[in-house]
Amino acid sequence: MQLDKLGCRVRDIVSGGSLAVVTDEHVEKLYLQRCRDTLEEAGFAVHSFVIPPGEGSKDGQTYLELVNFLAEIPLTRADAVVALGGGVVGDLAGFAAATYLRGIKVIQVPTTLLAAVDSSIGGKTAINLKAGKNLAGAFHQPALICCDAELLRTLPEDVFLDGMAEVIKYGVIADAQLFQQLTDPQETRVRLAEVIERCASIKMRFVEEDEHDTGIRQMLNFGHTIGHAIEKASGYQISHGKAVAKGMARIAEIAARCGWCSRNTEKEIRAVLETYGFDLDISYSNETLYEIMKTDKKRKGRFIDIVVPEEIGRCRLQRLTTEELGEIL
Ligand SMILES: NC(=O)c1ccc[n+]([C@@H]2O[C@H](COP(=O)([O-])OP(=O)(O)OC[C@H]3O[C@@H](n4cnc5c(N)ncnc54)[C@H](O)[C@@H]3O)[C@@H](O)[C@H]2O)c1
Repeated sequence: MQLDKLGCRVRDIVSGGSLAVVTDEHVEKLYLQRCRDTLEEAGFAVHSFVIPPGEGSKDGQTYLELVNFLAEIPLTRADAVVALGGGVVGDLAGFAAATYLRGIKVIQVPTTLLAAVDSSIGGKTAINLKAGKNLAGAFHQPALICCDAELLRTLPEDVFLDGMAEVIKYGVIADAQLFQQLTDPQETRVRLAEVIERCASIKMRFVEEDEHDTGIRQMLNFGHTIGHAIEKASGYQISHGKAVAKGMARIAEIAARCGWCSRNTEKEIRAVLETYGFDLDISYSNETLYEIMKTDKKRKGRFIDIVVPEEIGRCRLQRLTTEELGEIL
């Protein structure tokens, strides 16, 4: 859906007269005016809240400033928050909307590839605490997602690549045809809108079946258990997408070694990641990764469920004890 159509769609679902658009300084310069224009044309009073770009803004202080801003406008329960940006803006604005007045509507307008295929869908919202990422949050489904692939044209290559790791993940876990299409990066660029739509529909399907992440939704964590450990070991210097790419390659190697998938499947996963230029080397010891993985927030007592590929387009959960996890690493 084009950004310029946003106003009409929001009018259909928001009965109040005021909207708060949350964005970051990069996106502000590129798209805030267009976003304001379409919303104002639809008759809304638009208030904007602009945060510095980057993960640092997904913190308690910015969250409190934002909810205070909403209260000063003031937004009522009939109004809504619009998250115009990447995953940082989406998570922060979503969490503010989930908690302000015990919950008002949020409209997600993703502007990064990661937000378009992942963070804007599924209703997970959060801020980071000193003890770790995403530790305070809420499930709060967006009232509307406006995904305009044209907005992604201005993305820096590095940020685009972070989203590509998630796109490749969808191919591996659920869509062999998409995976084949991804082997040609030029084609991916040309057909980006279609690629996003396929990924979004896979995520929606998993979320609809398991909104609160206790079953099939965990399949979306392919590459993430090891990826999160790599991210953390690097002190978050390695971005989420680059860490997940390393995690996917590593778990594919483990799966092939344990006989859970063929060597050919492992090779295909590695090859597509390399085609996009992901560096798949891991410079941390298995002991370091293991110590971090043992504290993974998705651990269930002494068990941890790892997503393993069976073939391209199909994955399953493999339950391991933490000791077994140490051994296979
Ligand atoms: N809620 C979920 O389900 C979920 C899922 C995955 C990740 N996340 C969260 O998402 C966050 C990462 O999101 P991200 O990768 O989108 O990063 P981000 O929001 O930090 O955006 C990355 C950079 O791209 C810039 N940018 C955004 N859109 C742009 C555009 N169209 N043109 C040019 N520059 C643009 C931003 O200003 C920023 O500098 C993390 O906090 C992560 O925890 C949430």
